[in-house]
Amino acid sequence: MTGINKVGVVGLGTMGAGIVEVFARNGVEVLGVEITEAALERGRQTLRSSTDRAVAKGKLSEADRDALHDRVSFKVGLPALDDVDLVIEAVPERLELKRAIFAELDKVCKPTAILATNTSSLSVTEISVATHRPNRVIGMHFFNPAPIMKLVEIVRTVVTEQSVVDDIEALCTRLGKVDVTISDRAGFIANALLFGYLNHAVSLYESKYASREDIDAAMRQGCGLPMGPLALMDLIGIDTAYEILDTMYKRGGRDRRHAPVPLIKQMVTAGLLGRKSGRGFYTYEKPSSPVVV
Ligand code: 3HC
Repeated sequence: MTGINKVGVVGLGTMGAGIVEVFARNGVEVLGVEITEAALERGRQTLRSSTDRAVAKGKLSEADRDALHDRVSFKVGLPALDDVDLVIEAVPERLELKRAIFAELDKVCKPTAILATNTSSLSVTEISVATHRPNRVIGMHFFNPAPIMKLVEIVRTVVTEQSVVDDIEALCTRLGKVDVTISDRAGFIANALLFGYLNHAVSLYESKYASREDIDAAMRQGCGLPMGPLALMDLIGIDTAYEILDTMYKRGGRDRRHAPVPLIKQMVTAGLLGRKSGRGFYTYEKPSSPVVV
């Protein structure tokens, strides 16, 4: 049995808030950390609306929701993480930002704590060497929406201790997740396969070969996927998708399949970030309802 009883999550955006929910739903005490009160409040609201939706759908009782919230605390600043057994970092995909956070976590967390990154495309090894404990650093890559998607990619580097891998694999089982353990390469398994496809879908749309609805319908109705690629880009976040593609392009030998299609960068610059900003390839009135404009 793993000795992971209290977990910290750094960064409470879409993924971080979802990861907090995963732990709290499965009986684990969790501390969500952000850099400002406003960001903390956004994370708290994301958790609140997700659990309220589950209550409204009859999937969670009010008592269980309240117990879930009792297991969660929120604080500003990394020093609050001094007593956790595991930290999962889920900040934006920028290497220097993640390295700075890991250097700080190394100072404030107890020496036995495992430090995990939710990075989807950056090098876990490069992040780990910002600490004095690279043997206790690992990748834990969740999928969006984290409370729903079963997969966690566990990324071991050449120096990750076997006992750390064992603990994280046991933890994933405890969380009801399906894990795959792999080595450190750009995009791991799922994103390495997914993002060339998403980029290609944007290129078909950008060249006006097909409408967004037809592209998405083709993949839903013809290939049985739960959502089409442009709707999925909106769910992932256009900015996140851009960062992942750009990193995979640069780290993965400049494979042109991963060279971000220009429209993606233009959308990021214009603030069309997908569901989280209310508009991406589609327009959203509220988080899960696309509106054709
Ligand atoms: N947060 C929490 N729960 C959510 C949610 C969200 N953002 N969106 C939907 N859900 C829940 C719903 O509440 C519902 O829960 P229930 O079954 O307990 O009632 C369940 O998901 C199904 O939702 P809906 O019935 O509203 O809608 P769908 O059946 O269309 O499912 C979906 C929505 C789960 C998002 C489904 O369309 C899907 O699986 N889409 C593909 C998602 C995907 O591919 N994710 C991976 C992206 S890549 C990635 O994350 C990697 C990263 O590095 C970028």
